[in-house]
Amino acid sequence: MSDKKLSGEVFYPSENTLKDLRVKKWDDLQKAASEDYEGFWSNIASELHWFRKWKKVIDDSKKPFYKWFTEAKTNIVYNCLDVHMETFRKNKLALIWEGENGDFKAFSYYALHRETNKFANVLKSMGVRKGDRVTIYMGRVPEIVIAMLACARIGAIHSVVYGGFSVEALHERLEDSHSKLLIVADGAYQRGKIVNLKSIADEALQRAASVEHVLVVKRTGHEINMEFGRDMWYHELMNMPFAKSKCEAEEMDSEDPLFMLYTSGTTGKPKAILHTHGGYMVGVYATLRYVFDINDEDRYWCAADPGWITGHSYIVYGPLLNGATSFLYEGAPNFPYPNRWWQMIEKYGITILYTAPTAIRGLMRFGDAWPGRHDLSSLRLLGSVGEPINPEAWRWYHSVIGGGRCPIMDTWWQTETGMFMITPMPSVPLKPGSGTRPFPGIEMDILDEEGKPVKDNEEGFLVIKTPWPAMIRTIYNDDDRYVEQYWSKYPGYYLTGDSARRDEDGYFWIIGRVDDVLKVSGYRLGTAEIESALVSHNAVSEAAAIGLPHDVKGNAIYTYVILRAGVQGSKELMEELRNHVGHEVGPIAKPESIEFVESLPKTRSGKIMRRVLKAKALGEDPGNLSTLED
Ligand code: WTA
Repeated sequence: MSDKKLSGEVFYPSENTLKDLRVKKWDDLQKAASEDYEGFWSNIASELHWFRKWKKVIDDSKKPFYKWFTEAKTNIVYNCLDVHMETFRKNKLALIWEGENGDFKAFSYYALHRETNKFANVLKSMGVRKGDRVTIYMGRVPEIVIAMLACARIGAIHSVVYGGFSVEALHERLEDSHSKLLIVADGAYQRGKIVNLKSIADEALQRAASVEHVLVVKRTGHEINMEFGRDMWYHELMNMPFAKSKCEAEEMDSEDPLFMLYTSGTTGKPKAILHTHGGYMVGVYATLRYVFDINDEDRYWCAADPGWITGHSYIVYGPLLNGATSFLYEGAPNFPYPNRWWQMIEKYGITILYTAPTAIRGLMRFGDAWPGRHDLSSLRLLGSVGEPINPEAWRWYHSVIGGGRCPIMDTWWQTETGMFMITPMPSVPLKPGSGTRPFPGIEMDILDEEGKPVKDNEEGFLVIKTPWPAMIRTIYNDDDRYVEQYWSKYPGYYLTGDSARRDEDGYFWIIGRVDDVLKVSGYRLGTAEIESALVSHNAVSEAAAIGLPHDVKGNAIYTYVILRAGVQGSKELMEELRNHVGHEVGPIAKPESIEFVESLPKTRSGKIMRRVLKAKALGEDPGNLSTLED
């Protein structure tokens, strides 16, 4: 980057940071990528193992159905595990795990390879084949990683459902993916209590017909229902003669699906984003390596959940592809006390911490004394993801947690992008609240309604102009929706659904979603999911959900409900409806408030105008009301 002075509050990388960087600097990469984009990705891909090399790096002949590394053969799990068996990493720790109740497990690359192979053989013995979909529903335990890897190893497509989701959310995802197999844990520890995952799954299974078998991982050991002939214990199967410790990785085409992951979009049901073995692998490998400068001395902790894209890319695949040691923690950040995280950073010597602004704000509330009790000097880099980070939380994270010496990688990306898109690298000057600029070689822009780039510091729609290896390939079973949702507003450009502005230094600032997606505590939820859960209660006739600013959660869910004729609103009903949403979608979707109303603002075509509700709740001008029906 040029030496031009940057505007606003800027944190320049220290001499020490620059001196210690193991990987590459931003400028070198940027130069390589801008000179030869395909060559840049092809060089990175060459660092990985391929059973057969690609013919073309990018095939754009059927845009927007891009293909990457065409006709190549690989398997992401071969690159996550097998390649390390040939090196010293065989005996290096791959995964360190701490349970909320203090349980501990650690896996060397050798052990993780063995467990994955064994479980892959279990899956095969149950008739799971290449292309089959397998749903995984667990808390943050090592078996979720093993289950994902075992599926991918044999070419099955995993569909992980976040353990914080509940009955209807799980049911919908099971049904849409036509999974024949569900892998579930008996329970999960959360804040000292047991979340009864198996009984939630049992209820979801009553609604879902496709599932033939359920594999149950014993985590909490409490009494659960095991249905004869359908349900089997993981630990019993892993001890069977067929659970051999060798299972060859299936040779996958680059473009063969690796996983699907449901996420919320504009209106309607959650959709399954499809990612593939080849391009996704190259994208997450490179971004984690360069952005977090990951290397063999690191102990890296991404505190997200494996059930979301952050966990897929940067707890499971990215770290293993890089041969890193990564840490996984089961429970709540402040259990039993608000120093839990800081205690574990000290105990395990964590060098890189990657988390979400909501967690930082939540822990910041407890004051500086809690982190102050611990030696956090092992940390060298910090990261943030999921929503814009407010400068106040940024500064606290930087000075109190990072001791003023750790650059913060504020990474903007999405389930759909699979990998970091707007992100600094440790050598880049930082501005609190900005993810700086797009990753080398990736071109992004901010457009107005007509598709013209906006001026500096003006707000507009954030778009991506170049294809990237880990990009979404389609929406599972819905190519039309893929084209319509992402590529139709500005043909040729990928529409992110976010609004943003760019400052005079070319730094991007994300403002927020412009569609019906809410980011609540960093979790992505659709207003439609919350609304349909409300309407599924027999007291409710219509419902609308909006997000309003919240100090810790970023956004909190506010809902407006029209009751059925003859039903009276009451405090009890309100509580019942909140619990109903919790039971159907999950605790994260429970509305902060429910207001009973007589009518909802709608367009003449009957669409709820959420922006009008939002403006009213915030006491703001609702803007153009010409399409309002009433
Ligand atoms: C938001 C999460 C600001 C954004 C990886 C995006 C962010 C949505 C950031 C995707 C960030 C993610 N700064 N906003 N660093 N990272 N977002 O699919 O609105 O769960 O569109 O993926 O999160 O959420 P998703």
